[in-house]
Amino acid sequence: MANTSKINTPKNVGIIMDGNGRWAIKNSLKISEGHKKGVSIVKDIVEESVKQDLSSLTIYAFSSENWKRPKTEVTAIKKLVVDAINDQVSDLKEQKVRLKFFGHIYDFGKKVIDKISYAEEETNIQNSKLDLNVALGYGGKQDIVDMAKKISSSVLAKQIKLKDINEKTLHNASSVPVDEIDLLIRTGGDRRISNFLLYQIAYAEIMFIDKYWPDFNKTDFLKCLDNFKNIKRRFGKRK
Ligand code: IPE
Ligand code: IPE
Ligand code: MG
Repeated sequence: MANTSKINTPKNVGIIMDGNGRWAIKNSLKISEGHKKGVSIVKDIVEESVKQDLSSLTIYAFSSENWKRPKTEVTAIKKLVVDAINDQVSDLKEQKVRLKFFGHIYDFGKKVIDKISYAEEETNIQNSKLDLNVALGYGGKQDIVDMAKKISSSVLAKQIKLKDINEKTLHNASSVPVDEIDLLIRTGGDRRISNFLLYQIAYAEIMFIDKYWPDFNKTDFLKCLDNFKNIKRRFGKRK
């Protein structure tokens, strides 16, 4: 008999980790301290995701629009990415978490790019427990433009026929490693998507949490997963 407690459990969760800046200001800290605290929360949520048997956790670390932030903040975030990888790769490996970064990563410079390649190679484990996908320099619209270019050039090169293009073709052309998000959580109180996984959230349940990301904890996360179980997902059908 099916394990009823597992019915309606989200498999692929996305998170817009918003509120680091306001959390820092609230606590009279530098903005970079907010981002640093934010990284430590990721560690907790990853642990819980493994425990809850999720297939993937896809997190928004830096958007294509975040390049418009002050240079000092961008530099601090780049450094945090490198530091977080140094600190956490062995732990992730131990938990059988496979790391994957996606977005225009090449804009981040050699140091970050090399560190990301290292992290992805190190955690490229067979039979992984969880895929941790990190959006870095990612924008949903930008990704759709890239998809259009990719598919058009395949058609021009006669690798695929126009009539064969379907939803799967688009999923495959996307840089996003997961096809469908079941549950999308945004912390920080704002109710918007801010250019995150546009194509992949077509049927996602969306939860907006008022807490700032650095205040979000495992209990809050479990509450979201639990609330998801009570949602009737119809996918357009009558019942
Ligand atoms: C989200 O926190 C993290 C990034 C965008 C890198 P913010 O830095 O946007 O925090 P708020 O929204 O200003 O509080
Ligand atoms: C979304 O947060 C991006 C990340 C969490 C990385 P933003 O703070 O950039 O979004 P807006 O500007 O409030 O829409
Ligand atoms: Mg924000």
